[in-house]
Amino acid sequence: MIRFLRSKMTSLAESVATTPAQVPRVPIPPKGVDYRGKIVLAPMVRSGELPSRLLALHYGADLVWGPETIDRSLIGAERRVNPRNGTIEFTRMPSNGGRVEKAAKPSVIYRLDPVREKGKLIFQMGTANPDLAVQAAKVVAGDVWGIDVNSGCPKPFSTSGGMGAALLRTPDKLVSILETLVREVGEPYQIGISVKIRILETPELTEALVTRLVRTGITGLTVHCRTTPMRPRERAIRHQLRMVADVCHKAGVACLMNGDVTSRDHGLKLMEEYGVDGAMIAVSAEANSSCFRSEADGGLDPWRDVVYQYLKFCIESENRYGNTKYLLNMLIPGKVKEFKDAKQSKTYADVCRRLKFDDLVPAAMQLDEILDLTQKQELGDGEHSQAVSKAVQNAKENNESARAAGGGSSRPAKSNTTSTNNATTTTVDPSVPAAAEVSQQSSVAV
Ligand SMILES: Cc1cc2nc3c(=O)[nH]c(=O)nc-3n(C[C@H](O)[C@H](O)[C@H](O)COP(=O)(O)O)c2cc1C
Repeated sequence: MIRFLRSKMTSLAESVATTPAQVPRVPIPPKGVDYRGKIVLAPMVRSGELPSRLLALHYGADLVWGPETIDRSLIGAERRVNPRNGTIEFTRMPSNGGRVEKAAKPSVIYRLDPVREKGKLIFQMGTANPDLAVQAAKVVAGDVWGIDVNSGCPKPFSTSGGMGAALLRTPDKLVSILETLVREVGEPYQIGISVKIRILETPELTEALVTRLVRTGITGLTVHCRTTPMRPRERAIRHQLRMVADVCHKAGVACLMNGDVTSRDHGLKLMEEYGVDGAMIAVSAEANSSCFRSEADGGLDPWRDVVYQYLKFCIESENRYGNTKYLLNMLIPGKVKEFKDAKQSKTYADVCRRLKFDDLVPAAMQLDEILDLTQKQELGDGEHSQAVSKAVQNAKENNESARAAGGGSSRPAKSNTTSTNNATTTTVDPSVPAAAEVSQQSSVAV
């Protein structure tokens, strides 16, 4: 009788384990977000600053990843609320290269909007060390809804530091980083920890890695469907995707797919086809963020409408002008006259006038004052113009390199002098790069 009852209970247990309702789920912490059913903006150095994230949300992105930020650049950063727009800024003092003639102003390393990004923002970190990861994560953990570890950056200066794609080859270290973050940041701050990986050469290798990662307590895993050596222009390969999703699901972890997803509708179709929980979009969003709007809701907006909205968010967020110009380069089609106009512009007021966004001009002029851009423009064709054309040239080079972010091999010349939101800084301590330098490095590394 006892044996009969035991066997009955065993078979009952087996059937319960396979019932969809009983599929395990890593609980989503109260301040965290579930990645399931979401079409999200990918982490993108340079292209993923606050105005771009607001633009993606404006057009319907469900969640937004911030650009990869290196752990060391955040440790010791100060948190302040910008009194003019309410954004939260993490800043640190640049070393100023030991120069005394120039008063140092704090550099903004990371900026977020606590209202418009509420419940939507995932912070992404570059790290190779559990202790540094925890220290850095604690700086922002109270202001974001998840912390993601970049484990896909293929560039040598990232991988040589053991970060990014190097972590795919050191699974013990990656597991330790994730477990430590879950325990020391995820639990006390009640947010989710996740990881973004690339596929490995064979399904077996990928499966072995993912099987370990999903046991760390993470709530989500994003898989970029390219191997580390693949260049970004090579088509994403999807034959490992269903397997990765299955491994995630067995452990109750949400699985996002990434690689050549072009729009919300495309993402939803791929989710159904491959059984993944959500989709992440990078370059298509960089070119036109209205890709987050479904055809049923109007589909792609014309570039002028997207650029108008983007500039509005840039002005509201007090975005660094160099960064704004960088993304304008992506958003305005190369063949239209306005492309050149935007490229030649030197201030917010200048670009708004050139693009005939007259209603934005008053606010643009105010921001130019705040960012000291007016004064720079008044310097005319002298020293500053040369500096600007050099910066534009650098931006062009970086632009190409950033596009190679999925695994291209080119690397731009690295400058020690970097322009930040409020000040031009020169870094002297190589172990703690200034924010913009980190950004510049990362932009070619991810
Ligand atoms: C400009 C640029 C910057 C990027 N920065 C990051 C980053 O900070 N962190 C990261 O994990 N991936 C980064 N990537 C890679 C993307 O997140 C994404 O994995 C890749 O572009 C593939 O998606 P896609 O095919 O939709 O472009 C970057 C890509 C680009 C184009």
